[in-house]
Amino acid sequence: MSNSSLATLPSIDRADVTARLRDALLAANFTADGLLELLGAPAYAALARSETVPALRATRGDTPLETLVRLFLLQQPVPHARVEDVLPLDACVDAGWLVRTGGDEVAAAVDVRPYGGPGGEDWFIVSDLGCAVGGAGGIGGRGRQADAAVVLGVGGASTTLAGITVRTPVGSALDLGTGSGIQALHAAQHATRVTATDVNPRALHIAALTLALSGAPAADLRQGSLFEPVRDDETYDLIVSNPPFVISPGARLTYRDGGMGGDDLCRTLVQQAGERLNEGGFAQFLANWQHVEGEDWQDRLRSWVPRGCDAWIVQREVQDITQYAELWLRDAGDHRGDTAEYQARYDAWLDEFEARKVRAIGFGWIALHRTDAAEPSITVEEWPHPVEQPLGDTVRTHFDRIDYLRAHDDAALLAGHFRLAAEVVQEQVGLPGAEDPEHVVLRQNRGMRRATKVDTVGAGFAGVCDGTLSAGRILDAIAQLVGEDPVLLRDRTPAQIRLLVQQGFLEPAR
Ligand SMILES: C[S@@+](CC[C@H](N)C(=O)[O-])C[C@H]1O[C@@H](n2cnc3c(N)ncnc32)[C@H](O)[C@@H]1O
Repeated sequence: MSNSSLATLPSIDRADVTARLRDALLAANFTADGLLELLGAPAYAALARSETVPALRATRGDTPLETLVRLFLLQQPVPHARVEDVLPLDACVDAGWLVRTGGDEVAAAVDVRPYGGPGGEDWFIVSDLGCAVGGAGGIGGRGRQADAAVVLGVGGASTTLAGITVRTPVGSALDLGTGSGIQALHAAQHATRVTATDVNPRALHIAALTLALSGAPAADLRQGSLFEPVRDDETYDLIVSNPPFVISPGARLTYRDGGMGGDDLCRTLVQQAGERLNEGGFAQFLANWQHVEGEDWQDRLRSWVPRGCDAWIVQREVQDITQYAELWLRDAGDHRGDTAEYQARYDAWLDEFEARKVRAIGFGWIALHRTDAAEPSITVEEWPHPVEQPLGDTVRTHFDRIDYLRAHDDAALLAGHFRLAAEVVQEQVGLPGAEDPEHVVLRQNRGMRRATKVDTVGAGFAGVCDGTLSAGRILDAIAQLVGEDPVLLRDRTPAQIRLLVQQGFLEPAR
């Protein structure tokens, strides 16, 4: 990618114009809420499916908001006269946000999408034309091949990572593979210093625009692959990356194809993150991983975890290799092109999987917490069920509980006090009409929305936990109630208590 192609992007040196543009966008209510109100939920949702007709119909008027939606989201040329009423037209043309298209119309040079921050902030995500909604195969992808260096806007993966990121105030954060800058924008709210990297110089330029247009402090932007742009003596309190995790035959689209073969890019990212973290720091990634014939996928992932780190790895979805190839062929808009070319690409994808003995692909989250503990804890699990975002606090408290459990042997656990987490309910499962349940399930309605089977002692124990009595005292009372030997009960129950604490059903009370 030559720097000359950056010439088609708005200038990052015209802070005055960016500030005026931001004021104009806000004054017109070009915000996430304003957009939803104008378009209505169905048209808004249709945009995410790359369907623009409902939004075009909803913006046929000439209010300032309709003008901005047509210009920056739907890439419609708009007459000067209409734009002049809403934006500082000449300044925006001069700074490269708008281009004159001939006649008496102007068009946007980039997509700008309103994006609501977690505290109600009105932010704007800048991306390449046609990429604000629907990805590379989206609105702008129709009928054209996506450019290798194209920079996408906000996707489902972007918001997932933003939601699971631990948001405690930190000194330094690194957003690796920043793209539109969305993760850096979030990090700027709770990190004193934010470093954002990308191999694609176009992405760095666009990330700078996103931060400036959103009114956020500038980040330290660095070009390079993986941790290359980070000096040997630099470490961070938080590292986040929504990397180019797609496992594909060859590097075609920079935003998604890591180009390192198989899942090597994600593995390298995880392995190298450990030594880039400060003690107590978190690294959080989205990733795809191979399920290889003859290998346990969980063991494979465990082997990626760097020394000194606890890890929590959650597999959210598994796709077979055909579903996977089709997903990414469609993402690039290949299904709308030449049939023979589509089939050749599909074939190449399956050849690649065959050669690597890949049977399926897992999608999920990887969180590392650097503790330098002598006995690191690595949890690899499958949880494909709905969760309640944002999960940043859930991730942080997961690692707190891991620390607690590591520091407490069974005797200490029985001396401990616990409280039942908020919004846990008990479900009894069994045949209709049966007197006793076949089993009892505890279900959390918050966070990971976990459900776990317990026996009647476990359910009774959890029900009594309000922080008053020690675990051992509660077990003694249950033993008396059910006529069981208290010593045996104290002996066999800690494993169940550990699981309930680890999964967040019980919280250490003191
Ligand atoms: C899936 S996009 C994520 C963009 C953004 N962070 C988000 O969450 O939406 C991946 C980004 O990683 C960048 N990238 C690709 N290969 C990379 C590498 N080897 N090192 C660093 N960044 C890379 C791409 O240019 C792209 O901007």
